[in-house]
Amino acid sequence: MPALGALTLAAAGLLPMAAQAQGSLVLYCGVNEDWCRAASTAFERETGIKVAMTRKSSGEILAQVKAESSNPRADVWWGGTGDPHLQAAEEGLTTDYKSPKVGELQDWAVRPWEQTKGRTVGIYSGALGFGYNAKVLKSRGIPEPKCWADLLDPKFKDEVQVADPNSSGTAYTLLATVVQLMGEDKGFEYMKALHKNVNQYTKSGSAPAKAVSLGETAVGITFMHDMISVAVDNPDVKTVAPCEGTGYEIGSMSIVKGARNLDSAKRWYDWALTPAAQEFGAKTKNFQVPSNKAAPTPPEAPKLAEIKLIPYDFAKYGSSDERRRLLAKWDREVKPLSK
Ligand code: G6P
Repeated sequence: MPALGALTLAAAGLLPMAAQAQGSLVLYCGVNEDWCRAASTAFERETGIKVAMTRKSSGEILAQVKAESSNPRADVWWGGTGDPHLQAAEEGLTTDYKSPKVGELQDWAVRPWEQTKGRTVGIYSGALGFGYNAKVLKSRGIPEPKCWADLLDPKFKDEVQVADPNSSGTAYTLLATVVQLMGEDKGFEYMKALHKNVNQYTKSGSAPAKAVSLGETAVGITFMHDMISVAVDNPDVKTVAPCEGTGYEIGSMSIVKGARNLDSAKRWYDWALTPAAQEFGAKTKNFQVPSNKAAPTPPEAPKLAEIKLIPYDFAKYGSSDERRRLLAKWDREVKPLSK
């Protein structure tokens, strides 16, 4: 049937479904699973592009993209903290793209894009903090913590949960934050003292928020918006902006170098920067500040202007050498310590 093109055949139902798809996309997703799923499904519906999505933590995605660099599997790395995206850009694992949407973004989202010559861009922002289960603390007679320093009280022994900074961008943000807030020596002293009170280092950064809500741990160190995600359904969960000040993230997006589905990757990239796509965050109870100026900030999002934020040095703490050095030092000096 030489006169019949693939389209005609597809319309007549003579070709299998896969042949009708408008392309495909392999997405490594660094935000919470529910948001990853909602965004992938909406994108598929709008574009006809089939999305194969995997959710992982930021450090894990960096390791995987690196391991696959000679034969890349992923097209887009969407979400997760900015530091590992910056490291990937520096190591040549991601590629530049000038989306027509970049002009619609907040300055803080454009900065990483400029800094990496187009290799990564900001998609949301959020402040680091901690949260606690007020009911659990009350039952143990422990006062409610307000400051980073409070978490070192021996009363919190085995009561604090936080992720491992190797796998989790959240936990790396904590490490880089205390180093910037206190200086490197005091920052590491802080992490060592905190270690005595940690009951578990989780793989994912937001897991401690769920554990706080379930009463499995009294305190969890997470991004404030992750604590708020559980607090909206559980009034016992309280979210704290630490009194000394705190760090923050610029959640980011990058296209993998050598992406096989480059056109689909660019479609996702442009779409993910639109207000409509960014609203899937709040719709799935993820209360970050979106990067498109026209996307509404959810009312539940912590008011960043009212929080004492440190001037987080993304260029330094997202650089390959510094990130690797700090993680190796934490592995050597903090993790193996007995409690
Ligand atoms: C959660 C937060 C995001 C953050 C991400 C980092 O999904 O809502 O704002 O970027 O954690 O994940 P990770 O597991 O790497 O700490």
